[in-house]
Amino acid sequence: MRKGEVPGPNLRTVKRGTIRRSTLLDLGLLVRHRRGMWSDIAQFSKADLDAADRAYRHWATTQMKSNRFAGFIVDVDGQPVASGCVWIMQVQPRPNWKGTEAAYLLSMYTEPAHRGRGHGARIVREAIRYAKGRGINVMLLHASPFGEPIYQRLGFERTKEMRLFLDRRKRRRRTPASRKTPRRAR
Ligand SMILES: CC(C)(COP(=O)(O)OP(=O)(O)OC[C@H]1O[C@@H](n2cnc3c(N)ncnc32)[C@H](O)[C@@H]1OP(=O)(O)O)[C@@H](O)C(=O)NCCC(=O)NCCS
Repeated sequence: MRKGEVPGPNLRTVKRGTIRRSTLLDLGLLVRHRRGMWSDIAQFSKADLDAADRAYRHWATTQMKSNRFAGFIVDVDGQPVASGCVWIMQVQPRPNWKGTEAAYLLSMYTEPAHRGRGHGARIVREAIRYAKGRGINVMLLHASPFGEPIYQRLGFERTKEMRLFLDRRKRRRRTPASRKTPRRAR
């Protein structure tokens, strides 16, 4: 069983719970769930996570107040067990893309004891409904190994996005010999 996985639920006793939009009062939960997500998918120091929590709380508050951020929370027996968020971001015009806004899905997290019960997929479907309702035609995300099967099943496709941190020293990667083109003789 991989890190973050929990024993499969007994489907006869699984409670579906209810899904709702978050408010500013839920920020503590959204920050806690986002931290849980980072802890499950990567290795960061406590200091890095603490700093990221503060930055995220500030950023999400601003985005929520300007109506560019929506959180979705699943409650089971009145307790929040899963959440995920959508950020409405600006994108450049492209052929066959309508408009210059995209919905970015982020901070997907289900508490370990509640995984594999459909809460994650339900949040994604709700997020898609929300984005469509705002007239947005594309949803983007960065998938973790846990999330990828959900997104694939809902029709997301892989892209070829790349990144370069501009404040870090470049590590030169050797090109495999087989991919090198022969140098021209001087
Ligand atoms: C990704 C995540 C949010 C999914 O939440 P979830 O509520 O378990 O989602 P679902 O119940 O819709 O499960 C979807 C998939 O989880 C996997 N799964 C099934 N049982 C599981 C279990 N007991 N434990 C963990 N994952 C399980 C399966 O791939 C399942 O697909 P299936 O419908 O074919 O069984 C959750 O695993 C999580 O919080 N992971 C850690 C943080 C993370 O990776 N976030 C996503 C960032 S993109």
